[in-house]
Amino acid sequence: MWVFLRVLGVLASLTLLHTAVSATCAPPTSTAAISDTVSQVKEQVGKAFLESRTRLMTAMSSEAPNTRQLSEYLKHARGQTRMAIRNGQVWEDSLKRLRQKMTNATDPNLDLTALSREVGCGAPVPVVRCDNSPYRSLTGECNNRRNPELGATNRALARWLPAEYEDGLSLPFGWTPGKTRNGFPIPLAREVSNQIASYLNEEGVLDPNRSLLFMQWGQIVDHSLVFIPDTELGNSTFSKEQCDKYCIQGGNCFPIMFPRNDSKVKTQGKCMTFSRAGFVCPTSPFRTLAREQINGLTSFLDASFVYGPEPSLARRLRNLTSPLGLLAVNQEFWDHGLAYLPFDNKKQSPCEFINTTAHVPCFLAGDGRASEQTLLAACHTLFLREHNRLARELKRLNPQWDGEKLYQEARKILGAFIQIITYRDYLPIVLGVEMHKWIPPYQGYNSFVDPRISNVFTFAFRFGHLEVPHTVSRLDENYQPWGPDLPVHTLFFNNWRIVKDGGIDPLVRGLLANNCKLMKQNKMMTGELRDKLFHPIQKIHGFDLAAMNIQRCRDHGMPGYNSWRRFCNLSQPHTLAELGAVLKNKMLAKKFLDLYGTPSNIDIWVGAIAEPLVERGRVGSLLACLLGKQFQQVRDGDRFWWENPGVFTKKQRDSLQKMSLSRLVCDNTHITKVPLNPFKPKSYPQDFVDCSTIEKLDLSPWASLGN
Ligand code: HEM
Ligand SMILES: *[C@@H]1O[C@H](CO)[C@@H](O)[C@H](O)[C@H]1NC(C)=O
Ligand SMILES: *[C@@H]1O[C@H](CO)[C@@H](O)[C@H](O)[C@H]1NC(C)=O
Ligand SMILES: *[C@@H]1O[C@H](CO)[C@@H](O)[C@H](O)[C@H]1NC(C)=O
Ligand SMILES: *[C@@H]1O[C@H](CO)[C@@H](O)[C@H](O)[C@H]1NC(C)=O
Ligand SMILES: *[C@@H]1O[C@H](CO)[C@@H](O)[C@H](O)[C@H]1NC(C)=O
Ligand SMILES: *[C@@H]1O[C@H](CO)[C@@H](O)[C@H](O)[C@H]1NC(C)=O
Ligand SMILES: *[C@@H]1O[C@H](CO)[C@@H](O)[C@H](O)[C@H]1NC(C)=O
Repeated sequence: MWVFLRVLGVLASLTLLHTAVSATCAPPTSTAAISDTVSQVKEQVGKAFLESRTRLMTAMSSEAPNTRQLSEYLKHARGQTRMAIRNGQVWEDSLKRLRQKMTNATDPNLDLTALSREVGCGAPVPVVRCDNSPYRSLTGECNNRRNPELGATNRALARWLPAEYEDGLSLPFGWTPGKTRNGFPIPLAREVSNQIASYLNEEGVLDPNRSLLFMQWGQIVDHSLVFIPDTELGNSTFSKEQCDKYCIQGGNCFPIMFPRNDSKVKTQGKCMTFSRAGFVCPTSPFRTLAREQINGLTSFLDASFVYGPEPSLARRLRNLTSPLGLLAVNQEFWDHGLAYLPFDNKKQSPCEFINTTAHVPCFLAGDGRASEQTLLAACHTLFLREHNRLARELKRLNPQWDGEKLYQEARKILGAFIQIITYRDYLPIVLGVEMHKWIPPYQGYNSFVDPRISNVFTFAFRFGHLEVPHTVSRLDENYQPWGPDLPVHTLFFNNWRIVKDGGIDPLVRGLLANNCKLMKQNKMMTGELRDKLFHPIQKIHGFDLAAMNIQRCRDHGMPGYNSWRRFCNLSQPHTLAELGAVLKNKMLAKKFLDLYGTPSNIDIWVGAIAEPLVERGRVGSLLACLLGKQFQQVRDGDRFWWENPGVFTKKQRDSLQKMSLSRLVCDNTHITKVPLNPFKPKSYPQDFVDCSTIEKLDLSPWASLGN
């Protein structure tokens, strides 16, 4: 791995050589100091990354990984992503050391270009030459020809507002005891969660007008757009494991401390561990050196959760033994004749340990979080089947097409499908009356629109966490309960409920017919996520997703609530009365002010989700702005957007327009009765129709396009 990095470093130095020589005249001593320091830091960081991976592997193969290890499994960076965040870490640590050394140096100006070159920053992979391919690249590179990196995998998230760190560079607010923000102390993340997000009684929380699939679609879209793995360096003296054990705060360990009277103190000790997010090297011209978190996925809505964001993973996911363009399927188990995702046999698997009798490993998919919970895994399965169905149909129509062509054409159709469902069916019922304000009808591709996912969006889109109910029920052919209801915490890493307990059909029927949870200002996040996250069996402790989201806001240097209200041209409440008016809830406003002192300091995730919902939507005004703006840019800045002329033919577009989630279910399960609008909860039988009445995708416009 390091050899490869060095080669990249050499490539980078070759391309940078002439700029460096002509633009800077750093004295040779400083260059030597840089290369000295960097090689020391590289060794240290490399060792920590290696050890962390080894520890994770060991933990997963042991009898019982703990909650931190389960969480680490999901936040584990692979492939090029891992290299990019390791470089980011080397850059930051080298800079710190050099600055310490340089307090007495004669030359106070550090040559950042030289540092960057020495670390091996720059593109995580050598920049490819863009060709005229009719298909998207897996990494998103070359989508924008003006700047081929825009929207590509393993780059920094975009900042719509400058980062706000305690030290201006990397330390999160809440790091240094006693240090204030705008003159007020920072409340513990868990305290905010306890006071604002918690509730005990699960009665009356369901959304009368949104199905469970509405929640699940949100997570799928999120997993197509964002993945921010953790960095793997604890701190220079302590491993992550030690940080965990002793609640050490230092380096990248940023434990979520429990308030003294928290009920978890008795069972879980002083803290929940929390590891800071992976970040990348800053890029020339180094306008800011503040930490920038990485996005391990492409910014485009391209079904990367099916195909993977990097060539190496994409190859592993394909069936290359036959030239049929298929994705690999599970070789051990079948769902009444239909395929399952393959198992991730390369890695030891936490999914096995939650039921050692059933022994069902985690699945391998385009996104590493596929087995995080059972409903998500069931949806991944639907898309795997759909790809293979499309590839087979295309083969029938075009016997002369080779495997690559079949794969790419099926991938292109599936990408269009995700875009259509999201923009035609999903976003209008998220944004409600604000839909057209933010996402007007499509006007064509615009290469000046920045498609990159913004840092704040990764918090805005977590509104879906408030839509997760506390139980999931499975349904039989008559949409009657099938087996007991399953509390959500029993679904984490649970694949045996699919493979050894009835397949995906009962779960999919549940997604169609049941309700999701409704966000309420006094009932925000179910205890299943707020107290029992990654607590699939009794032995281990539960985490708090609300507290993690809040701590993560600080980790990412997110500006506070009022900065984002200003960004969105909304009023900025300063007093109790003003905040009470914005939230239409004086009691909630009072709780916020008791905790934060000023609305300006409210962490963006918790402030934004607390707002009353816009008419016919499921988010407040601030979220409508942040989500709407991002989805408009993801659409208009995508050269391969399905409606962009030239991507598909007119006839193909007409066909695609008729695709539906109902048809996806009909085509890829044994379910025969479906609702017409699967985002609305339904009563059986009156709201259901036979699959034969749902329009099929007519693939004839794809026939014999040539090879
Ligand atoms: C049972 C369902 C779900 C579970 C267990 C779950 C769990 C998690 C966890 C553990 C994280 C990482 C938190 C952190 O360390 O910062 C996360 C992040 C996130 N979740 Fe969820 N989530 C669920 C549903 C959803 C839904 C329905 C949505 C959207 C509608 C969503 C959107 C996101 C987003 C955007 C992120 C940030 C992604 C990243 O940082 O890589 N999640 N979720
Ligand atoms: C820096 O210089 C000052 C004054 O010359 C000296 O007292 C101090 O020890 C030096 N610090 C380091 C780290 O060399
Ligand atoms: C339910 O949502 C649909 C949009 O999906 C909307 O047309 C309808 O008016 C809503 N019904 C109620 C009772 O809110
Ligand atoms: C590592 O953590 C310890 C304990 O908090 C702290 O004293 C030390 O400064 C940290 N080291 C770094 C490089 O952050
Ligand atoms: C813990 O203390 C806080 C602040 O004093 C209080 O508001 C809260 O109700 C207490 N929680 C419990 C569970 O006793
Ligand atoms: C690959 O495709 C062939 C032909 O359909 C099939 O027999 C084989 O099981 C597939 N292998 C995998 C790993 O999916
Ligand atoms: C483990 O899985 C088996 C099915 O293989 C099931 O019968 C059993 O109840 C499960 N055990 C637990 C503790 O969930
Ligand atoms: C806020 O208003 C300004 C001026 O009208 C406009 O340029 C900007 O785009 C608006 N911000 C958002 C997020 O819509």
